[in-house]
Amino acid sequence: MANISVFGLGYVGCVGVACLAKLGHHVVGYDIDSNKVDRISRGLATIVERDVDAIMSEGFKAGRISATTSTQDAVTQTEISFLCVGTPNAADGRLNLSFLLSAVQAIGNGLRLKSTFHIVVIRSTVPPGTNDIVSAALEKVSGKKAGINFAVVSNPEFLREGMAVSDFLNPPLTVIGTEDKNALGIMRKIYDPLFSETVEVAPKVAEIIKFVNNSYHALKVTFGNEIGAICKKLDIDSHQVMNLFCKDTQLNISSYYFTPGFAYGGSCLPKDLKGLNFLAQSNQLEVPVLSSIELSNEVHIQRALDRVQATDIRSVGIIGLTFKAGTDDFRNSAAIHLAEAILGKGSTLHVYDRFLNMAQEKETNLRELNEKIPHLLPFLEKTVENVVAKSLLVIITVRNPEVPALISKYPKVHFLDLVRLKDPSIEELPNYEGFCW
Ligand SMILES: NC(=O)c1ccc[n+]([C@@H]2O[C@H](COP(=O)([O-])OP(=O)(O)OC[C@H]3O[C@@H](n4cnc5c(N)ncnc54)[C@H](O)[C@@H]3O)[C@@H](O)[C@H]2O)c1
Repeated sequence: MANISVFGLGYVGCVGVACLAKLGHHVVGYDIDSNKVDRISRGLATIVERDVDAIMSEGFKAGRISATTSTQDAVTQTEISFLCVGTPNAADGRLNLSFLLSAVQAIGNGLRLKSTFHIVVIRSTVPPGTNDIVSAALEKVSGKKAGINFAVVSNPEFLREGMAVSDFLNPPLTVIGTEDKNALGIMRKIYDPLFSETVEVAPKVAEIIKFVNNSYHALKVTFGNEIGAICKKLDIDSHQVMNLFCKDTQLNISSYYFTPGFAYGGSCLPKDLKGLNFLAQSNQLEVPVLSSIELSNEVHIQRALDRVQATDIRSVGIIGLTFKAGTDDFRNSAAIHLAEAILGKGSTLHVYDRFLNMAQEKETNLRELNEKIPHLLPFLEKTVENVVAKSLLVIITVRNPEVPALISKYPKVHFLDLVRLKDPSIEELPNYEGFCW
């Protein structure tokens, strides 16, 4: 069992003290607020929260919980320090790290007096890059070396107030972000009894995941509420609608559609989203989330175009023109917007699309093709390699199995992958670029 100090005794810190003691560790709490230190040192919780009083008292009676007003004692008497201080928004929206850095300064002063290895765990929610900042600050203050005398671990807290103890002990995931193998082993042991999946990631991934999770949770709430407002106007039971929505665990409540890549298109998503926004507008309802989805998609297409322009390459190839792989349907295809904009900028264009070639050969969909995209048909090539051989920049909008080998074969051609080919052998090549990963 470990000796652990907890810096910051608010919601996260108080629950942390009680739960770490429940797991059998000896925990000492520190806070700049002496009232909180005083309460913990008497075995009393600093917050109102289900179950916390009982386990705090249990840990205190077992002699595993104490508190101190000395940061030096908190560091020198423990092997691990959990940072649970507040990181509120500054006026411009960024997270204010001043409380965290002041606690880090105190830990650094304590570290100076230590000869044994110490782990600093960032439990507070922080922006990506904070792990490096904390590490550099600790080196400066303590005179010790990261990776030799200490390690900084990014380990976000996923608890919800009201369910905090249960969430601490049954987390959806345990995320450990560190490059330090020694610290990783020790952290794994701390969380071993929780039976939750532990995932090791780069510190920046561990840092940004809390922003991503909470932003998505906020999106879920507002999406549900906007659907509720529309349904109410139309005299439809919104709870029945959303219950039905949640029953679809293939497309709705699943990882489907969550992979960063290129814009949506096709005959259904754009049309039905417009249809729903029309219902809201015609009922004088403001639905800012639903009404900004289309704009976000357009901005994403523009981002791809900006990237193409920034390469300064005017000989462009596109692999995949229909709205997604496996179909000759090109209605509202984002790749067609790209192709037209690229031509509009005066670049040369070569296109390969297996399904449009098949449609031309089989003479299916021919009338549509000739009516809607006659201006693009002359640029269609019979093979992928033709496109690559005739271009200096190739944009990939569908996963084509022939492409990875061509990326290696044509090192002078730059490949901009909008969908991620998911081939590790090409991702490090200098002529390969992932669009948004
Ligand atoms: N509250 C939640 O549900 C929750 C859940 C997950 C993550 N988080 C994150 O955890 C962090 C803490 O959140 P919280 O709700 O516990 O905040 P809180 O405001 O309840 O507690 C923060 C504590 O830090 C103390 N503090 C400030 N400066 C200090 C210093 N230099 N040294 C020691 N203590 C110091 C404060 O006195 C306070 O008691 C935040 O980054 C928050 O975003 C919160």
